[in-house]
Amino acid sequence: MSLWSDFLNNSDKVIHKVPHYFPVYERHFSHWVGKSVVFYEIGVYKGGSLQMWKKYFGPFAKIVGIDIKEKCKKYEGDQVSIRIGDQSDHVFLSEVVEEFGPPDIVLDDGSHQMDHIAASFEFLYPRMTKNGIYLVEDLCAAYWEEFGGGLGKEASFIEKCKHLVDKLNAEHTRGLLQEDEFSHSTLSMHFYNSMVAFEKGQPAAFEPQKHGKEAGIQGLWS
Ligand SMILES: C[S@@+](CC[C@H](N)C(=O)[O-])C[C@H]1O[C@@H](n2cnc3c(N)ncnc32)[C@H](O)[C@@H]1O
Repeated sequence: MSLWSDFLNNSDKVIHKVPHYFPVYERHFSHWVGKSVVFYEIGVYKGGSLQMWKKYFGPFAKIVGIDIKEKCKKYEGDQVSIRIGDQSDHVFLSEVVEEFGPPDIVLDDGSHQMDHIAASFEFLYPRMTKNGIYLVEDLCAAYWEEFGGGLGKEASFIEKCKHLVDKLNAEHTRGLLQEDEFSHSTLSMHFYNSMVAFEKGQPAAFEPQKHGKEAGIQGLWS
């Protein structure tokens, strides 16, 4: 069963997602199906998505839901834990990481407020496992004032991501930007309509090579 058909056929607790997110989830999350993944979702709502992730990842997955609303606690169950707190509270997040271990995947579907998204990312991203995926969804809010966003506004998470693209490439800026932990622990960033995914990993040294019998042809780095 794919995530998409699971979503369409769901007749249990409500799941609140945008259809085009599903191929994106499959693209970035499928590697962990059947593995002992630690999956955090910020934003529990009615608990349906946590059940969907449990079914998708299988019996070894640890699913952790984070929500500010106490009533979400009732959606806990086998393999699914829920902790109540504010996604922007680093003390609360440190307790979650302490209890459940560093996440392999973080999906931020919480308040969609720009300062909250940034605070969760700032704390959780460096604490993830080294090949983790951090995905923020509903970034339509990054263009909306009521969420602290706005086109080109510094506080917009999309705007922060544009700066992170430069951090990813810091080694090529001829000293204008310092490489940092983000540069050294991020393999790629993926932009979609309303979503951004970060793939962690240890980037290989940037050393262009030539292989093959046409290797003598003048090229970009000849
Ligand atoms: C869009 S809903 C989550 C939908 C759910 N993931 C799904 O797919 O069905 C957003 C949730 O974020 C929670 N939330 C709002 N502000 C929050 C905050 N500061 N910290 C943690 N959760 C928050 C809300 O209570 C709400 O349940």
